[in-house]
Amino acid sequence: MKKSKKLFSTIKHIPRLNFSILPTPLHKLDNLSNKWNRNLYCKRDDMTGFAFGGNKTRKLDYLIKDALTKGYDSIVTFGSNQSNWCRMTSAAGSVCGMDVHLILAGLKPEKPTANIKLDLLSGAKIIHIDTEEEHLLEEASLEQVEKLKKEGYKPYYLSVGGSNALGALGYVNAFCEILEFSEKTGICFSKIIVAISSSGTQAGLVAGQLLSGWEGSIVGISVSKKREEQQEKVLQVVMDTCQLMNIPCDTDIVKKFITVDDNYLGEGYRMNTKDCEKAIELFAGEEGIFLDEVYTGKAAAGFIDYLNKGMISKSENVLFIHTGGAVQLFE
Ligand SMILES: Cc1ncc(COP(=O)(O)O)c(C=O)c1O
Repeated sequence: MKKSKKLFSTIKHIPRLNFSILPTPLHKLDNLSNKWNRNLYCKRDDMTGFAFGGNKTRKLDYLIKDALTKGYDSIVTFGSNQSNWCRMTSAAGSVCGMDVHLILAGLKPEKPTANIKLDLLSGAKIIHIDTEEEHLLEEASLEQVEKLKKEGYKPYYLSVGGSNALGALGYVNAFCEILEFSEKTGICFSKIIVAISSSGTQAGLVAGQLLSGWEGSIVGISVSKKREEQQEKVLQVVMDTCQLMNIPCDTDIVKKFITVDDNYLGEGYRMNTKDCEKAIELFAGEEGIFLDEVYTGKAAAGFIDYLNKGMISKSENVLFIHTGGAVQLFE
């Protein structure tokens, strides 16, 4: 049996919705490949289709199905003021008839723009809190859950980014698509480069790698945390995902598959860097692909730096996953 089919058979019994239009395109980056004389590809998860697309729709396919199956009637989650996750959750909840309550980091803007504007268009109820501290946002979200319960609702709590085991299955599924592409075309990748923060995206890919025996490396470019902290987060979600799939995994073995690079983080989350700006311009100018300043621009800055430093050879095929987020450009 083909590796992609075998991997898919481990998750196909887990029910999901179809917000995402799949498989997403995977194509060569012609101009960038010519520029560096390398074989560079892009998986277009910015084109998952739903609510302006992005990596979070893959997670929501599983998470919202779970919420509906268990009879929840509303959703509570949190994120940054311009959270892509919150934009897509607002839309997903809305189309499924659930009220969505967002706890957003930062003051209410005078004029809602970009993701906040879209949250409101989807009817989300927003509470703005003047903090970037994740534990305070989480606390406020759990308070909101309790408040709603007292009012007679049954709220489904989603942690930031939908990065739990169920959400990460969305990226086990994405990994199946990548394997399927390789099986069809004969183009095999040695490296996958992706922006990471709450960790579900990389965790799902790594779980897919562990289960399929794929031999390349998955490099997560961290956009919010230092390497050690980020690696721990990814590890936890991979372990939980394997457990959900009933697949025994050894922590020390899993650790070896988790590569995190924090060299492109700059001064921190949502703090733009010169290299990120240059990467955004390059992708726009050479490929007509728009990246964002928080996630994909930083991941692309890493990708370009690897190319400039000769860390990608002529014989390799390298895949950049575009995880979406360009709505941020309209902030
Ligand atoms: C556009 C974009 N790319 C990448 C990520 C990182 O994904 P994860 O949170 O699963 O690590 C996010 C998360 O918010 C995102 O919005």
